[in-house]
Amino acid sequence: MKSVPEPRRALPDLLRQQPNAWVSGQTLCAALGVSRAAVWKQVHSLVLHGYTIEARPRMGYRLMAVPEAPLPGEVQPRLTTRRLGRELIWLDSVDSTNRVLGEKAAAGAAEGLVVAADTQTAGRGRLDRVWFSPPGKNLYASILLRPAAPLDRAPSLALLLGLAVRRAVRALAPALDPRLKWPNDLWVDNRKLCGILCDMQAEPDRVHYVAAGIGLNVNTASADFPPEIRASATSLQIAAGRPFPRSEVLAALLNALEPVYRRWEKKGLAPFLNELNEADLLKGRAVTLIQGTRAWSGRADGIAPDGALRLIGADGEITAVYSGDIQVRPIAGLRKERNPS
Ligand code: BTN
Repeated sequence: MKSVPEPRRALPDLLRQQPNAWVSGQTLCAALGVSRAAVWKQVHSLVLHGYTIEARPRMGYRLMAVPEAPLPGEVQPRLTTRRLGRELIWLDSVDSTNRVLGEKAAAGAAEGLVVAADTQTAGRGRLDRVWFSPPGKNLYASILLRPAAPLDRAPSLALLLGLAVRRAVRALAPALDPRLKWPNDLWVDNRKLCGILCDMQAEPDRVHYVAAGIGLNVNTASADFPPEIRASATSLQIAAGRPFPRSEVLAALLNALEPVYRRWEKKGLAPFLNELNEADLLKGRAVTLIQGTRAWSGRADGIAPDGALRLIGADGEITAVYSGDIQVRPIAGLRKERNPS
């Protein structure tokens, strides 16, 4: 795990109060209660973290640009949450943010802790797949949740997280229409934008914690995806046609998640069923469910109040499915249309 020591937060806040204006070294020393040398050290640390700060003798310092990366000092001023993200660990490089968060959780960290990284060397997807995690582009974040909810509600959490990411994406880019692909993906324009991996520690009667890992493609260009996922993956930048600062994306996500999570703790998925079904990518489509070595075909019939996917078999019988991977099949009877002449 590699990280440059976190800069003190007060300095960017002080400089930000007067963007593009000079702030004297003396003013900063007085406001921070530290020496000139200490101010210089903090400025240096900020520059290493991507801040552009001009320094001039007799003028002082001025903030020219802030990093787009989700550093605590950039995310936290944007938060409207009470708990989520109030403690945020930013790492330059890590094997997997879910692993680090799991360690922190086992050591007693409080709910709401977020571990985010610029790149993951062993980012994990569901079913032990690899999660593509290049540096400087996307969001890889794990959120510590300690749900005050019965254990049997926990599996529906991935869907709720998907719904929160969808709300965040719509707040950032209202023209996009992200769809939920049961159980834990978000798709835009028929390509995967985001995956969610919930690692849970529980006993039969209570959940100790959930490490909710979110991988959201933010600024990856199509050509930068590995060939094997290029045709099926997308990013916010591809879909919306402009780059997004990752600090804004993480703040929007945490702001969207906290209220829905609190409601879900009390009431489960019921208050969100309409929204879930509206956003359901699979509803009415012919799908194949893969569970281990078995495959099962049917038509998706929406999401049940407990988070199960309802599948209608060829005999018309409805089965509630709780785990597995879904592949969308081309709908029988549909022909490829030629372009209208
Ligand atoms: C999937 O669609 O298979 C789930 C992908 C989850 C990826 C995220 S990135 C942050 C967190 N850390 C990980 O190693 N995985 C999750």
